[in-house]
Amino acid sequence: MIEISNLTKRFAQHTAVDDLSFSVQPGEVLGFLGPNGAGKSTTMKMLTGFLAPTSGTASILGCDIQTQTLKAQRQIGYLPEGAPCYGDMTVRGFLAFIAEVRGFRGAEKTLRVQSAVEQVELETVLEQSIETLSKGFKRRVGLAQAILHDPRVLILDEPTDGLDPNQKHQVRQLIQGLARDKIVIISTHILEEVTALCSRAVIIAQGRLLADGTPLELESRSRYHQAVTLVADEALDHAALAALPGVAGVEENAREHSLSVLAQPGEVIFPQVNALIAERGWKVRELNVERGRLDEVFRTLTRGEQ
Ligand SMILES: Nc1ncnc2c1ncn2[C@@H]1O[C@H](COP(=O)(O)OP(=O)(O)OP(=O)(O)O)[C@@H](O)[C@H]1O
Ligand SMILES: [Mg+2]
Repeated sequence: MIEISNLTKRFAQHTAVDDLSFSVQPGEVLGFLGPNGAGKSTTMKMLTGFLAPTSGTASILGCDIQTQTLKAQRQIGYLPEGAPCYGDMTVRGFLAFIAEVRGFRGAEKTLRVQSAVEQVELETVLEQSIETLSKGFKRRVGLAQAILHDPRVLILDEPTDGLDPNQKHQVRQLIQGLARDKIVIISTHILEEVTALCSRAVIIAQGRLLADGTPLELESRSRYHQAVTLVADEALDHAALAALPGVAGVEENAREHSLSVLAQPGEVIFPQVNALIAERGWKVRELNVERGRLDEVFRTLTRGEQ
């Protein structure tokens, strides 16, 4: 597993990572969230041995990243922010170079490159120089170098940043496939990605841990948790909905004749709302019970922390 204990990084007067502690177990895909400048990339650089902490420790599968750096790094595949690569190399040349750096030679080297190329579908651009690739393909090259040695831990810094919706979907599927037998830590600003991909999420701001839980647990902190959203063909009786037991309030949505009925914490209000609809004979076209909104939880937690 990955164990982070009291990890701290100061740059001159500025504390980028502030006494951060958490652990990640095998089989987990951890979403690492936080506003710009929260300290996500700095934490990942310390986890992968590219930056020394000011204090605190991090260990990867039992290897301390500072005292057993190489042993720890052998277990890690790392996609740094922006996926920097050597632009004038061809894709094939770059991956062969990385395979050599990772210690593979001869047939093993060829096999490793081939397998990574297949996994991220780079066959069509193998002889192209990296600087002439589109952003999506550059990112795939970054992913290919990260998985080349089949590491047990993947640390991916905003792997889908700047990709088009199709590419985002592809990269997500790829990560999902890789996650089956690895520990994955992925930083992102895309909250749907967390719901789609992650078994757990950690939210930080100003280098400090603010929340740690499953996406469902975090969503349940939302004021929209268990809210019932209605879309009707006619105006609905606001006051009657607001007066139902367990209801915290009623909000109008941008769509005409659409309301969200908010639940008090711990209350399930769907039956009451449904009964009122039946009683009044309202023509309701859509009716949804919300799990909660991660973006709202994120904003509430990190407000004033930037
Ligand atoms: N080498 C450095 N020297 C000085 N300050 C730095 C250095 N690297 C990072 N910082 C500062 O540390 C803080 C955390 O930066 P970091 O890049 O870790 O944030 P982040 O959470 O990855 O943000 P983003 O979402 O924008 O990628 C920022 O205030 C940043 O300016
Ligand atoms: Mg970053």
